[in-house]
Amino acid sequence: MKPEPNVTPCVVADQISESQALPLALQVRDLSLTIDGQSLLRDVTLNVPLRGVTTLIGPSGAGKSSLLRCLNRLHENWQGEVAIDGVNVRQWPGGVDVLRRHAGLIGQKPCVFPTTIAANVMFGLPRLQRKRRAVLEQCLRQAALWDEVKDRLQSPAMSLSLGQQQRLCIARALAVQPKLLMLDEPTASLDPRSKQLIEQTMCELAQTIPVICVTHDLDQAQRLGGQVVFMCDGKVIEAATCASFFNSPQRIESREFLRWSVCDC
Ligand SMILES: Nc1ncnc2c1ncn2[C@@H]1O[C@H](COP(=O)(O)OP(=O)(O)OP(=O)(O)O)[C@@H](O)[C@H]1O
Ligand SMILES: [Mg+2]
Repeated sequence: MKPEPNVTPCVVADQISESQALPLALQVRDLSLTIDGQSLLRDVTLNVPLRGVTTLIGPSGAGKSSLLRCLNRLHENWQGEVAIDGVNVRQWPGGVDVLRRHAGLIGQKPCVFPTTIAANVMFGLPRLQRKRRAVLEQCLRQAALWDEVKDRLQSPAMSLSLGQQQRLCIARALAVQPKLLMLDEPTASLDPRSKQLIEQTMCELAQTIPVICVTHDLDQAQRLGGQVVFMCDGKVIEAATCASFFNSPQRIESREFLRWSVCDC
């Protein structure tokens, strides 16, 4: 499969991820999660380099969202080891709130606060910085939302459409300048133009920080480049550079998934 012709692949991120020399931003070792007797994640081991995009792909129910929720401790009852920038997330200095600013997670369902659009974006900033119009505009532009909301910044965020709320959450996460950004299906409710802008933002961010993106859109995974992690049934089946995964997947499960969009794990 080839990237769509009208979209530039995230080449820089791809090159960076292919380098074996870079130190790691995220190390996951033997992570397992069981809830109510159901095994959601099984011995997940994963490395994410300091820069570049890592896409998580796999069928519905594979455990992609659960994995992200473990990484910033929205799930706490897992076994294994997770280190971000070499620091054990269970012993994060300053506690879990500081961890979540460092490693921002934009969830699958947008979670906007019952306040204005502007206040939502600036929510995580210290009080004195919340009036900074330039920051507000930059984050909304990066989230491809500025043009749609610039004339109604004081309107309730709840009045936005689902796709707009999703982009508002991206803007809010960007405002605190995370050192690692995780996005769970960030473009699932977006029109093609907004999708293209969010992909562009992810690629730009990935030049300086690691970006982890869950997607069901395999064309998008190819456009984003970097590393691909294929999950099924709570396990990592294959992790490889984007080019290797799509051109020569090593595992039979990966080949079947690419061919039939199903996995028989
Ligand atoms: N809080 C929870 N309690 C119990 N089971 C859960 C919980 N969260 C998720 N699960 C189950 O864990 C499995 C993996 O869910 P998860 O949301 O991580 O999958 P996913 O790969 O993100 O799927 P999708 O692509 O549909 O978003 C599913 O079977 C789901 O029903
Ligand atoms: Mg999910």
